[in-house]
Parts: sequence; structure tokens; C-alpha cells
Amino acid sequence: MIQEDNQVLDSHQKETEKSFEFSLRPKTFTEYIGQENVKKNIGISIKAAKQRNEAMEHVLLYGPPGLGKTTLAYIIAGEMNSNIKITSGPAIEKVGDLAAILTNLEDGDVLFIDEVHRLNKIIEEVLYPAMEDYALDIIVGKGPSARTLRIDLPKFTLIGATTRYDLLSSPFRDRFGLVFRLDYYDKSEISKIIKNNSKKLSVEIDNDGCDIISERSRLTPRIANRLLKRVRDYVQVHGNGKIDNKSALKALEIMDVDSHGLDYIDRRILETIIDKFSGGPVGISTISASVGEEIGTIEEVYEPYLMRMGFLARTSRGRVVTELGYKHLGRNFNGSADKLL
Ligand SMILES: Nc1ncnc2c1ncn2[C@@H]1O[C@H](COP(=O)(O)OP(=O)(O)O)[C@@H](O)[C@H]1O
Ligand SMILES: [Mg+2]
Repeated sequence: MIQEDNQVLDSHQKETEKSFEFSLRPKTFTEYIGQENVKKNIGISIKAAKQRNEAMEHVLLYGPPGLGKTTLAYIIAGEMNSNIKITSGPAIEKVGDLAAILTNLEDGDVLFIDEVHRLNKIIEEVLYPAMEDYALDIIVGKGPSARTLRIDLPKFTLIGATTRYDLLSSPFRDRFGLVFRLDYYDKSEISKIIKNNSKKLSVEIDNDGCDIISERSRLTPRIANRLLKRVRDYVQVHGNGKIDNKSALKALEIMDVDSHGLDYIDRRILETIIDKFSGGPVGISTISASVGEEIGTIEEVYEPYLMRMGFLARTSRGRVVTELGYKHLGRNFNGSADKLL
């Protein structure tokens, strides 16, 4: 088995697909499928802020990669008729970088900080008064003559996005008025996204074709879009240009995509727990060492999906492969791990 096979199922954005993603990115709440509760709550806050003629509260969006955090930030800015400035945690290296960004904002602007869990601690603390009081405290001078100078900032909205909510400090979390977790989509929502995007890509697709791609998309719009694009290329070269049951299956078979969208690492995780630890329970650090994948990545990407699919369960003593997980791999389930659930 070659690891590269399933790069197509990696939910992180690839450098090469930025412009493709941009072209498919929904621009309004109506085009943004699913996440109904999040949309409803954000919609209310936007309306209220507009009525009061104020900036919207700061928003924190978290959840696995590819579920629509960046897209949502753009939509919020659009609905507020605001300008959006984009940066990321690791890109802000010095306090001066942040000061420059903040002082260049205008009233009502949205500042989007992606990967906000990777902000340096010192910079995070400079953000606190900026978020709370729209003020920047800077220290001028050195030694005994040093003093703090407070600069007023425009009334902006910070939108932070992260895949690792657990890595944010609680004082930081508390400064966001609105905190939303984006969850995996339903299969039917992913089918709808595929249907809408095939129109944008001018490729014909029937309901079966949508469902087959949807099933293998890890309930993640980014992956659905990527698979759609690959299947479109396949039917253009090998078929009649239409995506249906048969052509979709054939294209996905060539890509070696598992019927539930499991990739090489997901399968390794399940197989390792079954073969080396009799199905579990086993701790995350042991799994990480056996599979050779970082704990953070397992927690951020693999585990949430395997749990969502019902293949893996978390118990107080560690992770356990469920009966469904055994079945999916075509293994016999002896029932021992199940007792712990
Ligand atoms: N709710 C949605 N409806 C339709 N398409 C979506 C939705 N959420 C995400 N997408 C698609 O998935 C792609 C990745 O979303 P993105 O916002 O970049 O994810 P994240 O920032 O959470 O990693 C976008 O380009 C967009 O086309
Ligand atoms: Mg993003």
C-alpha cells in the first residue's frame, strides 16, 4: 500500500487547489449548505449589529479542516458589508506585525486570523485589550522611564478559526462573544454541495453519481469538491462526460478510495488497535507511536471522523474499535472490546 494513494482524502487545503477552491466557495448564506444552527445564530448577530450600527462581536470558529470555517468568515464579512483582512497565527511573528495590522483597520472591518491556536503567547496578550476595549497598549522607552501608551483602535470584528480548540487558553476563548463548532455534514448535505458545484463546473451528474461521491467524501466539503473534480476529469477522458453510478464508481475505484472514505492512516489506526491491542482499549500516545502519526493529527483529523462513522469509540481507558469498525475492515468481531462501551 502506498501512502500517497489517498492524498486525495487529506482534508487540509493543498497549495495547488487554492484557486479551484476559491471558484467554488459559496458567497452567501443561501449557498452555504448545512450548519443550520451556526448560520441561524450568526444571522441574528449580524442583524443585531447592523441595527445598532456596531461592529459584530468577535467570532471563534472551530472544527476539523475543510468544513467551511474560512468560507464562513468571508460570508460574515460580506453580509456585514465589511472589508476583510486575512492573516494567520504563524504569520504574526512580532508585536509590531499585529500593531501594524490593527492600526490599519477601519471601523467595521473584519480581521480573520486562521490557525489562531498558533499565535504566539505574547501576541495573544496584546490582542486581549484590542478585543475587549478596541485599544492597543504599547510600551515606550526602556527601564525606569518606560511607560505604556494606549492607542485607540477602530471597532473591528475578529474572526478566529482553529482546528484545535483545546489548544486555546481559556482567557482567549472567553474574549470571543460567539463561539461555534463546525461539525461534519450529513451525506445528503454533501450530495447537495456536489450537485451545486457540478453546475458551477459545467458537468452533468445524476443523483446516484452525487451519492456515490458523497459517501466517500469523509462528510467534508473540501474533499467532496476534490473528488468531484477528479471524477469529472475521468468522465471527460474515459466516458461520455456524464457522472452517473457506473462512471463515478469506476473513477473512484481507480483512485483507490474506500467506500466510506477511509484513507491509509484511518485503516492503519483501526488495524493496529485490532492486531496489536486486541481491539483496545489503548491510549492515544501508544496508537500514535505504533502508527507513526503525530498525536495532534490523529486527534484533529482521524479520530473525529472514525468516531463520527462509528468505527472507533473513546472510553475512559482508551480507544476501542467498535463492531462496525471490525466489519468495515472485514474482520471477525469477538465482542471483547464492545463490553467496555
Ligand atoms: N457549507 C458549505 N457549503 C458549500 N460548500 C462548502 C461549505 N463549506 C465548505 N465548502 C467548500 O469547501 C471548501 C473548503 O472550505 P473552507 O472554508 O476552506 O474550510 P476550512 O477553512 O474549515 O478548512 C470551500 O472552498 C468550499 O467550496
Ligand atoms: Mg480554512
